[in-house]
Amino acid sequence: IGPDVIDIRKLYGQTGKFTYDPGFLSTASCQSTITYIDGDKGELLYRGYPIEQLATQCDFLDTCYLLLYGELPNEQKQKDFHKLVSEHTMVHEQMQFFLRGFRRDAHPMAVLTGLVGALSAFYHDSTDINNPTHRNIAAIRLIAKMPTLVAMAYKYGEGQPYVYPRNKLSYAGNFMRMMFATPCEDYEPNEVLVRAMDRIFILHADHEQNASTSTVRLCGSSGTNPFAAIAAGVACLWGPAHGGANEAALNMLEDIQRNGGIEKIGEFIKQVKDKNSSVKLMGFGHRVYKNYDPRAKLMRETCYEVLGALGLENDPLFKLAMALEKIALEDEYFVARKLYPNVDFYSGIVQRAIGIPVSLFTAIFALARTVGWIAQLNEMIGDPEYKIGRPRQLFVGSERRDVPPLHQR
Ligand code: ACO
Repeated sequence: IGPDVIDIRKLYGQTGKFTYDPGFLSTASCQSTITYIDGDKGELLYRGYPIEQLATQCDFLDTCYLLLYGELPNEQKQKDFHKLVSEHTMVHEQMQFFLRGFRRDAHPMAVLTGLVGALSAFYHDSTDINNPTHRNIAAIRLIAKMPTLVAMAYKYGEGQPYVYPRNKLSYAGNFMRMMFATPCEDYEPNEVLVRAMDRIFILHADHEQNASTSTVRLCGSSGTNPFAAIAAGVACLWGPAHGGANEAALNMLEDIQRNGGIEKIGEFIKQVKDKNSSVKLMGFGHRVYKNYDPRAKLMRETCYEVLGALGLENDPLFKLAMALEKIALEDEYFVARKLYPNVDFYSGIVQRAIGIPVSLFTAIFALARTVGWIAQLNEMIGDPEYKIGRPRQLFVGSERRDVPPLHQR
């Protein structure tokens, strides 16, 4: 397939031989045309377009269109797409009864996993994954309804009434209004904050075959419905080594701040480097990037813009993050392992400044990644070589043996 790629199906075929690659360190599970990452250069392209250009010249819905259909929309298509998405922002009124079954203090990701899975019980005309029309309607529904569901999960936890979508607002502006407006007071979105939220969505929209995307592909490969496959992605994203890292990174910064702040960074780094400790520098390191994550650079800029707009330039957590980053980037442990900040290092500070509670960070990541998951699902189902995903295993358990009678065990 390429100079560095061996198609092992051709080598081993039906011989019964297979490769052993835990964690998929050296295995491509598919061919894809959606997202390209050059981990050594720190480059990220969606459908060939650099993330820096998309983040500064397009909005999230343009990015959704690009990821789903392969090209950026022209003016007419942009208008039509925005209109189509806005027509699907409401969720079935019965969803609120389903939501009521959760404890108020449930983690928003637990709630979101349930809500997204439950969509398949409401929209029967878009559950056939092998039907392109069904998949397209499911895609539009999921992109349109995710902000509504995330905001509902938040309002439910707060004990506040849900705020219905207002479709004349932008995608990000509408989400922020559903989050922050109340029946007593409307919410006038600050343009800098709306743009920052939109940028967070763009930067998280896709990232090739990461754990949650691979989960969505594997789940969808059995022919399950698109809502169920995306719910599986939400569940996978929750883990602290993946989407949960933004929440973990902010908790880590707050923890260092509580325990002495910048003065104590040295001690914290020592702990991270200790082979016997399980402490990690959250928001640092990446399986593919062995250079600065380009999304982290953009997020750092956004952080300056948001804190500036809110008059929080001296935010102690931001100062702590910058000091921590500087120390880590000069430390031989991090240099030797090519550990750089990833997108989650600064996204928590931005979201916190916007007013998003920490427990909602990963749900917002899920909202943004939904389009990537669907684009990847579509690509897989449309691939003539697509088969149900079925990894092999290297069995290392006991040999055949007979069940002893109970008194001899
Ligand atoms: N802090 C300290 N040491 C680290 C870190 C870190 N954040 N990340 C990796 N290392 C060390 C490992 O201990 C290992 O050291 P060793 O060679 O001495 O054993 C070495 O770097 C290689 O790390 P691996 O765990 O083998 O790298 P892997 O590719 O499997 O893991 C991962 C990547 C999961 C992202 C890891 O770097 C990590 O846990 N980071 C913190 C969590 C995080 O920020 N996740 C977000 C990822 S981006 C995203 O999902 C949007």
